[in-house]
Amino acid sequence: MSDLKAYLKSQQVLVDDALNSFLPRVTVRPKTVHQGMRYSIFAGGKRLRPILTLAAAEACGGEAKNALPPACSVEIMHTYSLVHDDLPSMDDDDLRRGRPTSHKVYGEGMAVLIGDALLTEAFTVLAQTPPTKRYSLKDILLEFSECGGSKKLIGGQVLDLEGEGKDLTKAQLVRIHENKTAALLTTSLRLGGMTANATVRQLDALTTFGYNLGLAFQVIDDILDVTQSTEQLGKTAGKDEAVDKATYPSILGLDKSKKEAARLTRKALAALEIFGKKGQHLEEIAHYLLDREF
Ligand code: IPE
Ligand code: IPE
Ligand code: MG
Ligand code: MG
Ligand code: MG
Repeated sequence: MSDLKAYLKSQQVLVDDALNSFLPRVTVRPKTVHQGMRYSIFAGGKRLRPILTLAAAEACGGEAKNALPPACSVEIMHTYSLVHDDLPSMDDDDLRRGRPTSHKVYGEGMAVLIGDALLTEAFTVLAQTPPTKRYSLKDILLEFSECGGSKKLIGGQVLDLEGEGKDLTKAQLVRIHENKTAALLTTSLRLGGMTANATVRQLDALTTFGYNLGLAFQVIDDILDVTQSTEQLGKTAGKDEAVDKATYPSILGLDKSKKEAARLTRKALAALEIFGKKGQHLEEIAHYLLDREF
């Protein structure tokens, strides 16, 4: 196993153990909702966002232990966003993380509630974050709530739905990606930095890195939707074209989209300079994401 693969694996285990201890047990009543929360959380997933939180804390000289609550919070928020994103009234997907989607197993009404419960739980977990000299629990809370709110993640999903079947400009597409995807990646990194008492300069660098990495990440997600199989992705391939979503490949074509992802990744990497050797894992993750196949 390469060093990066081993690092990702060990961080995944750390995150999964913490998620397991934070989330309500399946025996807690009403059982359906707690089973449903765990069903989607433990379906797999790359755990990219929490790993970024831990790696950002490391880049700023902090300890992983302090970054675990926000790391779990961003993964829980992400998973809620996927449960709702897959609903018949949104992207209408049957497969997620290689398993039938939440609404396929629990029914649509229950999947809405499971998503709601996950989002609420994310805040309970976040409240366990130890504050630092520079960042109070209020700062941490506002960072997280603004990222998940109507101006960012939800706002991006709104624009994404409204964009279906329309010819969007590249600028309009960038606005969707900034909000629906890059915002949560950026916040994942910033929260890690905050637990490490990052300086303003370090936090700014994480923001620039997250913004460009997040855009690149969604461009690649759009490319993989066209180029990979359902088995490889663990979610239905070719879905964007089927519902006439505005995507990078549909606007720029595959070749230019790949170049755009590489350009954005280079921009992201340039922001890491101030971290020196401590930013090595963030750097390796950015390279890995550009070459990923699922
Ligand atoms: C999928 O995210 C949704 C997007 C923002 C593109 P991931 O590709 O990180 O999904 P998991 O967590 O690995 O399942
Ligand atoms: C998902 O974007 C973004 C959020 C869930 C916020 P997509 O709709 O492209 O993600 P996939 O392809 O279903 O994972
Ligand atoms: Mg979507
Ligand atoms: Mg989708
Ligand atoms: Mg997609």
